[in-house]
Amino acid sequence: MLDNRPPLPPEIARRRTFAIISHPDAGKTTLTEKFLLYGGAIQMAGQVRAKGEARRTRSDFMQMEKDRGISVSASAMSFDFGRFRFNLVDTPGHSDFSEDTYRTLTAVDAAIMVIDGAKGVESQTQKLFEVCRLRDLPILTFCNKMDRESRDTFDIIDEIQENLAIDVTPASWPIGSGRDFLGCYDLIHDRLELMDRADRNVVGESIRIEGLGDPKLAEHVPAELLEKLREEVEMARELLPPLDRRAFLDGTLTPIWFGSAINSFGVKELMDGIAEYGPEPQVQNAEPRKVAPEEQKVSGFVFKVQANMDPKHRDRVAFVRMVSGHFERGMKLTHVRSKKPMAISNPVMFLASDRELAEEAWAGDIIGIPNHGQLRIGDALTEGESLRFTGIPSFAPELLQTCRAGDPMKAKHLDKALMQFAEEGAAKVFKPSFGSGFIVGVVGALQFEVLASRIELEYGLPVRFEPSQFTSARWVHGPRDKVDAFANANKQHIATDNDGDPVYLTRLQWDIDRVERDYPDIRLSATKELM
Ligand code: G4P
Repeated sequence: MLDNRPPLPPEIARRRTFAIISHPDAGKTTLTEKFLLYGGAIQMAGQVRAKGEARRTRSDFMQMEKDRGISVSASAMSFDFGRFRFNLVDTPGHSDFSEDTYRTLTAVDAAIMVIDGAKGVESQTQKLFEVCRLRDLPILTFCNKMDRESRDTFDIIDEIQENLAIDVTPASWPIGSGRDFLGCYDLIHDRLELMDRADRNVVGESIRIEGLGDPKLAEHVPAELLEKLREEVEMARELLPPLDRRAFLDGTLTPIWFGSAINSFGVKELMDGIAEYGPEPQVQNAEPRKVAPEEQKVSGFVFKVQANMDPKHRDRVAFVRMVSGHFERGMKLTHVRSKKPMAISNPVMFLASDRELAEEAWAGDIIGIPNHGQLRIGDALTEGESLRFTGIPSFAPELLQTCRAGDPMKAKHLDKALMQFAEEGAAKVFKPSFGSGFIVGVVGALQFEVLASRIELEYGLPVRFEPSQFTSARWVHGPRDKVDAFANANKQHIATDNDGDPVYLTRLQWDIDRVERDYPDIRLSATKELM
């Protein structure tokens, strides 16, 4: 953005597409709710949770989510904030769903890291942060729950700098802590922000101050706290780097705001930060060339597929990150993988989780395209150009189990159910060339339970997952005739994935080494590149 490129068209420049990363319980849901409240997308705090509850009660596996405190119902929400359009992409929080979460992060331009002021950087935050780092995503930090007893401000900042190896610059500085928490001193605008404890949905007073020497401060802050504030801010300004936009955009420096989401405190300042510092929709890596948001022609890629959002319909919604151009409803786009045109007649946008027809979308936006399974994760949509957006990860399944229908008469339905989940990216599904049943590969053990519950619920089909004789799956690459010959000679080990591509299954690393030695034309790979 600062690389001497001409300014983006205003409609694109005003877009901010981001995700929230956090450890469960740090306050992501509460913060999301407050964002929507300020964005005017909901009228009352509590609606996100209420909707969440409604979603949860819809299916039993959601009960499991609830018991274990996992959220799997992810979506993208759009709302306006001042002259800006925010697109917030929800990331499922539990590590068992990391694959999905990681992919979500390919669709955003920035991330907000929420930490609990008493707990600091927790394990899940750290993991998600590492993914953001791989993509050099700019990070804004929100230190939440300052209304409770929290750690020393310098300790929190030190911990982030050390554990995450990123520079931290305070955008605000907390005054008091726990029950004595008064509010923050806004270091960017030299303002005193006071928290209103009486009404959680009301933003407290904001008082313009002429620097920390302003006598007005003493009218609002008790002498003891004021002295501490002056000392700490002076020290912070001396020891910590200033807010440098370039470093922020490069992902090497994160501004931190302190606040309390539940008290609506510090949220607006954070949103102002996103609006002001961005970033705008970014250039996306693709083959054979990068794609810039201001390009006239429309393009986008599928980063998530969600099935059965409406349980009455067997539809799927493919979430597409628009990469370039100005999309209008009814446009015919080329589905690059099949090279077929697709009329996008009923795209949806999620305004505070209510679906609405998207009449238009600009680079940076997320639209949902209902479809019957044609659209898969990683697929590109363009106005004809053969583009392949790169960087969407596909993880090697680390756990394999055999899946059988509880009722053999319904085995056919199992086929359909598993294929759906494979397309959603929820599991890898292999059909062995020998024997019956399917082999299902996942990244986290909990996914087997989720799959079993969903298959029973959505397809009325009880299933059993059993240990498989195999522990590793490798995709087989090479010239067609060589692959066929290899498959024929190793039938016991060969399966096909949901695209019909051959996969070699084994339990021994030795086998894999042997194949590489004995079949020089064959290459085995642990992941199948999605795009
Ligand atoms: P998550 O999505 O990251 O998992 O967190 P969520 O927003 O659900 O918040 C986790 C808990 O922390 C909730 O309490 C929430 O009310 C509380 N919380 C969020 N922000 C703040 C804050 O600024 N200060 C304080 N003190 N608490 C906060 P809960 O008891 O689990 O749920 P609930 O009964 O309040 O809904």
